Amino acid sequence: MKGQEWYQAKEIADEYDSKRFSRGGQLIDQREKQAVLEALSPVEDKKILEIACGTGRFTAMLASNGADIIGLDISSAMLQQGRQKVRQNGVSKDIEFMRGDAARLPFPDNHFDAVFAMRFFHLAETPAAFLAEMSRVSRTQVFFDTFNRYSTRTIYNWLLPMGSRLYSESEVESLLGRADLSLTDESHDFILPYGFYRQIPGEIASTFRDADTTMGETKMGNLLASVSYWNASVE
Ligand SMILES: C[S@@+](CC[C@H](N)C(=O)[O-])C[C@H]1O[C@@H](n2cnc3c(N)ncnc32)[C@H](O)[C@@H]1O
Repeated sequence: MKGQEWYQAKEIADEYDSKRFSRGGQLIDQREKQAVLEALSPVEDKKILEIACGTGRFTAMLASNGADIIGLDISSAMLQQGRQKVRQNGVSKDIEFMRGDAARLPFPDNHFDAVFAMRFFHLAETPAAFLAEMSRVSRTQVFFDTFNRYSTRTIYNWLLPMGSRLYSESEVESLLGRADLSLTDESHDFILPYGFYRQIPGEIASTFRDADTTMGETKMGNLLASVSYWNASVE
């Protein structure tokens, strides 16, 4: 799995946040955090597992909202960034970061109230196996995002060095069925791809983001969205 190896490098981990979430990328960070918080709320005292937590963007946010959270990732370098972040945010005592493989979660069945993964499934060569593991350890809920097959992301997706898998809606539905998950909610966003926002200054990005959101509210906008958020319940 290329994506698994890519994020092991210290220099990749060191620049992960600044490369993606500065300039116009801040709007992406905000939108993703909003998606996670809306899907998992109320989070206070909820026992949550974050798969592929990376630099802990969501782990830190959920801990500061009162969740009892474990962030698991296969890369020590990414986890190191996460540990630094939560120390700075003053929420480190509420978080456990753990090195581990999402293919073999070291937890018993139904151990968490909710399990989620962001920006992970595009790296997965065997998504069905990963989703089955997430479903196994969750008592009630599984939430994740995907990058979409029929979207503007296809313009540059093939260039990405870590490899990036795109999904159609029917593929996701089939994966959910195989993992004994029922779709409870879905939303689709970002007609303009992430790569575009990262290149432009924040003030200009806001104008494009407003137009993107307006277009996204149309039927065509939904079809062209490059990112989808999937909220599912455990059967
Ligand atoms: C694109 S980053 C996303 C990080 C974080 N979820 C975010 O949205 O900022 C992908 C993460 O998946 C992790 N990863 C890849 N394969 C994994 C596996 N098999 N088990 C656990 N983590 C994995 C990488 O180490 C990396 O931190």
